[in-house]
Formats: sequence, structure tokens, C-alpha cells
Amino acid sequence: MAETTGTPAAAPDLSVRLGPLRLANPVLVASGTFGYGEEYADFLDPGRLGAVIVKGISLLPRPGNPPPRLVETPAGMINAIGLENVGVDRFIDVKLPLLRQRRATVIVNIFGNTVDEYAGLASKLDGEDGVAALEINISCPNVKQGGMVFGTDPATAAAVVGAVRARTALPLITKLTPNVTRIGEIARAAVDAGTDAISCINTVAAMAVDIFSRRPKLANVFGGLSGPAVKPIALRCTYEVLQAVKCPVIGVGGIGTATDALEFMLLGARAVQVGTANFVNPGVSVEILEGIERFLRFQGLDRIEDFIGTLDTECLFPFAEDACGVLDLS
Ligand SMILES: Cc1cc2nc3c(=O)[nH]c(=O)nc-3n(C[C@H](O)[C@H](O)[C@H](O)COP(=O)(O)O)c2cc1C
Repeated sequence: MAETTGTPAAAPDLSVRLGPLRLANPVLVASGTFGYGEEYADFLDPGRLGAVIVKGISLLPRPGNPPPRLVETPAGMINAIGLENVGVDRFIDVKLPLLRQRRATVIVNIFGNTVDEYAGLASKLDGEDGVAALEINISCPNVKQGGMVFGTDPATAAAVVGAVRARTALPLITKLTPNVTRIGEIARAAVDAGTDAISCINTVAAMAVDIFSRRPKLANVFGGLSGPAVKPIALRCTYEVLQAVKCPVIGVGGIGTATDALEFMLLGARAVQVGTANFVNPGVSVEILEGIERFLRFQGLDRIEDFIGTLDTECLFPFAEDACGVLDLS
């Protein structure tokens, strides 16, 4: 264990390995919360992030669900966007070149209605200049097909991952849903079928109603809860997945500060994704990156890799609360 107050001379090494994927730093933006990158161009340089995970892409464009599609709750947001997107061809022709120009590391989030559609997307994106990896979304709770239906059963999860694996040499990340009883089993099936990494979690199935109109607040009735409310669920899922499989895990769910991000990395997540917090503060992902760097300097650590997975589950007390206030990571 390094000293807690030393200051390393050089900037800490924030680079991380996720199987075959090497990232300059562990802070990514989550699919669906950063568009195709251009929406945030005025607020931050996407090239500074570990990676930009773009809005979920399907073979054909989709209009998504009818409005209302978003509702705020006291601790987060429920969305039922329904995977609206421009389709893979337009993504490759129009959106990808902009991200390439900005030197962003791009991970493309893909989803389909059938296993063949997932495979078709992998074929189209394979070898596409500027695509660093694919994130396979088998976890969206607010569309009837093409989402969570594949991610709630180990056999269907494996079928999707296996079909994508057969069609591309790109690093594969499989994104899991928390809306299952045993998330470790789904993770194991995805790993056995050839995924290189797991991201967890997608949104938590949720609902909101209005007592005056006596109607659901979302046209789709159900949606996916994200933001601060889901962080403890995401931490638990990340821990369970890390216990179940050896492959690298990316933590996602309710991350809005460097402290949140570091909590996932303490468990063993090798990277994190920032989602709903981007809507509150569009520059938050870079602030989180800077906070992680400050934390490493404060701890006298030269490499983020030296912090990842160092959780001590043996001794539960005392909490190091006296450190609060000494270091501002917000
Ligand atoms: C408006 C919105 C759209 C989303 N769209 C996608 C998507 O297209 N594909 C996907 O895999 N996840 C999607 N997600 C899920 C996020 O990527 C993330 O997993 C989830 O919101 C939890 O992280 P957070 O609490 O930091 O937002 C979406 C989330 C939100 C809020």
C-alpha cells in the first residue's frame, strides 16, 4: 500500500486495459446520454475521454417511442426513449467522421430485434475506421424487442454475443441489465460466448403515475430508471459480476462525481461510464477524470491500476470519514 500523502513527480498513469482494448483513461460516457458526441462539443473535448459510447445503433433508423418519454423523480430520471437512432448507415456516413475528426475513441452501442440483426450490425461496423469496440446492448428495458429480452436469459445472451463474435474482430463489451435475479449467470454466458468485457448496468425497470390525470407519466407506461437512485444497485451488480467472471468490467449507474467513479473501481471495475449526470452538467465527465487524478496524487499512487480492485471486505470499520473535507473530489 502506498503512502497516503506523498506526491508523485509525474502525472499519474490513468491508462487502463480491458482485455484487448486499451484506453487512455477510465472515464467513458454512457450510451444514450452523449448523443453522437457533437451535442457536447461546446462543453468538452471528447478526445480527452477514455471513450465515447454512442447512442444505441440499429440496422435501420428508429423513431423511438411516442412522448412523453422522460420523467424526473427525486433521485433520478425514468426514460422510455425507445432507442431512437439514425441507423447504422447514416451513423457511419455522417456521425462517425465527426467523432473521428475530434480524435475520440469511439465505442458503438448496438442492438437488434433478432440475433441476425445484431450480427449484421457487427459485420457493417467491423473494420470501420475509428470504431474501437462494440458494446452489445442486451439490456434496454423500454422496447418490446431488441433489448432486455436477450439479456434476461443466459442462452439468448450467449446466442447474441456468439453471433456478434463470429462477425467481427473488434473488442466486444456486453451490457447487462440489472432486471434479473442472478446477473452473474448472464455475465458468465456472455463471457463463454466470447465477450471481452462486461458493462453493468443498464437502467432499472421503473414506472411513474400522475394522481390528477390518473395516467402513467410515460406513454410507454414503463421506462428505465437512471441517475443517483441506481448507484447502489449498480455497485451490487458490479460486485456480483466480478465475483462470477474473470473478464474486465465497466461500472455504470448513477456516477456523477469522482468519488462515485472511484467506488466502482475500488470494487474492481476497470473503467466507468457517466450517464444521466451529463444532462445535469455537460462537462462532468472531464471533471470526474480530473478528480480521479487528484485522488491518485493525494494517495501517492502512480497508476490507476494500483487502486483498481483493492476493496477490503474483511475489515468493515472504521470508515475513513476523516478524509472527507481534506480532499475535494466533487
Ligand atoms: C436518455 C437515456 C438514453 C439511453 N439510451 C441507451 C442506449 O441507447 N443504449 C444503452 O445501452 N443504454 C442506454 N441508456 C442507459 C445508459 O447508458 C446507462 O446504462 C444508464 O442510464 C445508467 O447510468 P446512469 O445512471 O449514469 O445514467 C440510456 C439512458 C438514458 C438516461
